[in-house]
Amino acid sequence: MSDTRPPAPPAPAEPHGELVIRTIAMPADTNANGDIFGGWLLSQMDLGGAIYARNLARSRVTTVAIDAMTFITPVYVGDIVSCHATLLKVGRTSMRIAVEAWAQRTKGGELARVTEGVFTYVAIDEAGKPWPVHR
Ligand SMILES: CC(C)(COP(=O)(O)OP(=O)(O)OC[C@H]1O[C@@H](n2cnc3c(N)ncnc32)[C@H](O)[C@@H]1OP(=O)(O)O)[C@@H](O)C(=O)NCCC(=O)NCCS
Repeated sequence: MSDTRPPAPPAPAEPHGELVIRTIAMPADTNANGDIFGGWLLSQMDLGGAIYARNLARSRVTTVAIDAMTFITPVYVGDIVSCHATLLKVGRTSMRIAVEAWAQRTKGGELARVTEGVFTYVAIDEAGKPWPVHR
């Protein structure tokens, strides 16, 4: 039977969204294959999204959900990794933010989109209780 699904849209050629994190992937962050561990990348994306959310809410924030994470291609030791955030939706206390991670390769310097995901943050008060984003 032939595949009747429409072709996937072409991947964007460059990052979009606000640059929120830029760092270098180090040997200590590798997995058993010698590539960069997915959990490290996820934590960079979570930190980047939290920076964006905190600036928007002007209060502490906490991550309540991570959806639609896709690991597209590996990150290698020495790659310059950058995370870019785009606001998708603001609720009463929550913010839904798309985060893309890109790697600039050591060899050749080309850019590759390595991961994408959607992070939801909740603005919280000093007691850790939800707190309106727009006050
Ligand atoms: C985030 C937290 C403060 C929310 O508290 P809560 O009592 O569940 O709050 P509410 O039910 O009022 O929900 C608050 C907002 O979060 C949203 N929300 C709650 N759970 C959600 C989920 N699983 N996915 C998406 N949004 C969610 C609600 O829709 C609401 O959004 P809105 O105010 O914009 O309409 C609480 O769940 C918490 O502290 N969780 C642990 C967070 C944490 O430790 N994160 C780090 C993980 S390592």
